[in-house]
Amino acid sequence: MSDAASEPHRYREKPVSFVRRSGRMTDGQDRAWADLAPFYVIDVQRDAAATSILPGSAIDPTVVWERDAPLVVEIGSGQGHAIVHAATNHPDTDFLAVEVFRAGLARTMLDADREDVRNLRLVEANAPEVLQHLLPAASTSELWIFFPDPWHKNKHNKRRLVTPEFAAIAAAAVKGGGMLRLATDWQDYADQMRDVLDASPDFDRAFAGEWAERFDGRVVTAFERKGAAKGRAIRDLAYRRRP
Ligand SMILES: C[S@@+](CC[C@H](N)C(=O)[O-])C[C@H]1O[C@@H](n2cnc3c(N)ncnc32)[C@H](O)[C@@H]1O
Repeated sequence: MSDAASEPHRYREKPVSFVRRSGRMTDGQDRAWADLAPFYVIDVQRDAAATSILPGSAIDPTVVWERDAPLVVEIGSGQGHAIVHAATNHPDTDFLAVEVFRAGLARTMLDADREDVRNLRLVEANAPEVLQHLLPAASTSELWIFFPDPWHKNKHNKRRLVTPEFAAIAAAAVKGGGMLRLATDWQDYADQMRDVLDASPDFDRAFAGEWAERFDGRVVTAFERKGAAKGRAIRDLAYRRRP
């Protein structure tokens, strides 16, 4: 669905935190999309860009999930390993995977369907816009961001997802007492995340010491394995939304 054609042409003013991969899908992934997307993928209204969300098009989670339950949102869910595992193990919680990588979303649906997971939905869109325009304010119990693209070159740092502006957007979506959990294998980005969130008026540190303990709901993904193999320390962070 798109109302973009009827609007004056608009582009994003700021760089996004991803480069959209060509999105070539295998036949199995194409079939997964055709068969499983009607149940798993939330059909959203777009603004000008293909991965945008039209302002003012918020969903009602009790309608989408057909019940009132805590909602966990994962940004950049990749192949979906963490969120499918969590959704399988926590049937009383609802889960939303936010990703722009279509083949990853197809893989996520295939794995979810194999496990007969019914409490998970997916959205193919730019995460800050999902938080701002698709989710109602204070709707989210936990927000997860595991191994966001590090954009490690100085000239690309501005593409990083976790910035003061993002912290404010995340704070609006997470309910008072809710959690923001992050992990990265890139030390400079870990420092940036901690600086940004320590300075946020909306979040309190939920760990003692330098870094949080590994979140035990976080399964080891290929990205973590690669980082660890290169000798990088894995940093977890956890922040609680102020009431
Ligand atoms: C380095 S991968 C990590 C994937 C997964 N969390 C893991 O640990 O395996 C980062 C993912 O975030 C997605 N991503 C980056 N920026 C995004 C955004 N603004 N909105 C949605 N997804 C995004 C990318 O497409 C990519 O799949």
